[in-house]
Amino acid sequence: MDERATWATRIGFILAAAGSAVGLGNIWRFPFLTGESGGAAFLVVYLLLVVGVGVPVLLVEFVIGRRSNRNPIGAFERLGHPGWKAAGAVGAIAAFIIFSYYSVVGGWVIQYVVASFTGGYGADAEAFFLSTASGTNAIAYHGLFMATVAGIVALGIRNGLEKAATVMVPTVVVLLVGLAGYGATLDGAGAAYSYYLAPDLSTIVGDAVSILPAAAGQAFYTLSLGMGIMITYASYIGEDRNLLQDAGVIVVLDTVIALLAGLVVFPFLFTQGIEPGEGGAGSIFISLAGAFQQLPGGEIIGGVFFLMLLVAALTSAFSIFEVVVSYVTDTFDVDRVPTAIGMAAILFVVGIPTALDLTYLDAYDLFANNILLILSGLLLSIFIGWVYAGEAVEELGKGRASDGRIEAIWVTTLRYVVPIVLAITLALSVRDYIGFLQESFL
Ligand code: PHE
Repeated sequence: MDERATWATRIGFILAAAGSAVGLGNIWRFPFLTGESGGAAFLVVYLLLVVGVGVPVLLVEFVIGRRSNRNPIGAFERLGHPGWKAAGAVGAIAAFIIFSYYSVVGGWVIQYVVASFTGGYGADAEAFFLSTASGTNAIAYHGLFMATVAGIVALGIRNGLEKAATVMVPTVVVLLVGLAGYGATLDGAGAAYSYYLAPDLSTIVGDAVSILPAAAGQAFYTLSLGMGIMITYASYIGEDRNLLQDAGVIVVLDTVIALLAGLVVFPFLFTQGIEPGEGGAGSIFISLAGAFQQLPGGEIIGGVFFLMLLVAALTSAFSIFEVVVSYVTDTFDVDRVPTAIGMAAILFVVGIPTALDLTYLDAYDLFANNILLILSGLLLSIFIGWVYAGEAVEELGKGRASDGRIEAIWVTTLRYVVPIVLAITLALSVRDYIGFLQESFL
């Protein structure tokens, strides 16, 4: 392979993986969960989990993918441990559920793009959000988002999407930095920063039990872990690649974008007098729509912002949809295009309740993220830590000069730290989820 081709591959992989990681999870879900879960205390737990659990599990997926050269289901067979396919299957179910409502939120973004350029969020940003989020419009735009993703897959214009992602990531960063700078000048900024950035140790300790499920679910969600996406993407890369370095780039980029989103959302919310938890799933939409209305040139800035958010959502959605479609084509020996169309239709229907009532959106979201992704991560870490450690260490060592120390820390973390943290999280998540269902539906 010549210099240029190697370089192109490296960028292609990082772009695809970063395109999957950076999405609604960073800009929509992270600030709203932080607001609902107490601000800075949540942030600290989340960051600890990204480093202590997210990074090791991302490396697990990379190693399984590159070692097996297979999709998440086939991978375990190929590695000689077919029983562990269950881990891949849990991930595929999670992908299915997540995609059904991710598309609904994607539909909200399309509505905001349209409203931005046509100057119409109305006078009341909160009321506009509610009319966007649930009802006939929400269903129609959910259908449009779903059709777009299925169309991209069916037409095979994935390259076009990846090119869009090259523009998307830097544009998102520039816009977020600019908006955060503007937010810093607002009246509510001081209160917002102390809420978001000044953790209080006693709150962290006192609330750890309630924070853990949400923070762990978010760490998996935002890094696109637990669904086999990173296994699939890593199955295409060569042995000369340094997996550790690639993981580092992706995690830093993803985390920086989420942190920036918080720096934008909270000053705007505080300035508009909205309690951080009150905006719920609407936080980013309400706070930004309110802000764009006041900014000179806000229509254009708003339009560009939501357009970039749409590209970010599409590159992530694409990666989930791929997993669902390849699972079905591999398992049932059917063709790609009809599968993509059929799955899109099924997912559209499955997502409808979440476009009618935000309680259903929570129900899907919590179940998939806080339970299924955590379960999948638990299985993956046990597999690599206890069953496949030797080979995994060898795989991680490829493509870099290694004295084995990082591998040793990695395996120890996967044996003891990750499974214990995730087992506790899973127990708490299940308990919380039962409580949530009783409260919401009984
Ligand atoms: N990581 C993506 C985001 O942050 C979301 C996602 C979740 C993508 C699950 C794939 C799978 O938006």
